[in-house]
Amino acid sequence: MKVDLYERIWMWGVGVMLALFFGTLANASFRYGFHPPSHVETIDPKAVLKSPQFRRQGVYVDGGGAVHVSAVGLMFAWLPAALTLPAETPVTFHLTSVDVIHGFQIVRTNGQSMVVPGYVSQFTTSFKAGDYLIACNEYCGVGHHMMAAKLTVVPKAQWRTPADTVATPTGGAHAAHH
Ligand code: CUA
Repeated sequence: MKVDLYERIWMWGVGVMLALFFGTLANASFRYGFHPPSHVETIDPKAVLKSPQFRRQGVYVDGGGAVHVSAVGLMFAWLPAALTLPAETPVTFHLTSVDVIHGFQIVRTNGQSMVVPGYVSQFTTSFKAGDYLIACNEYCGVGHHMMAAKLTVVPKAQWRTPADTVATPTGGAHAAHH
């Protein structure tokens, strides 16, 4: 089959680009542990701030000793605005929005998820000690660029379980059905 020179150049160009894109994807997945969140749980956006899971935002420890974070996105802030977590410990984030779509991104970590009204996003990750910026990476309105929170990760031995820790029902078992 005779393929025109320019045709061939474009075919190779497209092939190389595809290989690059797949390579980038594979690199992000395997090297940095990026993966799409796969948790499906619904919640009434208007009832978020009254719901048992999000009435109080922040860090809590469940009955089994696992660390969780409940956070809410709204134009234009994350609640809570500051978090302190233990290093080298799996932390499960539960996130939702009361208004529009936001993007919860813990900068320079693999902790990231879209935050969609009506749904509870969930992911689990762990951190090295240090200070991190939590940004919003989905354009959500005029104050988008100001939507940020602070995460402080301290060595495990220094971390104190929050005094007001409650055995708040976690994730899966707690989808809102009304
Ligand atoms: Cu919230 Cu951009």
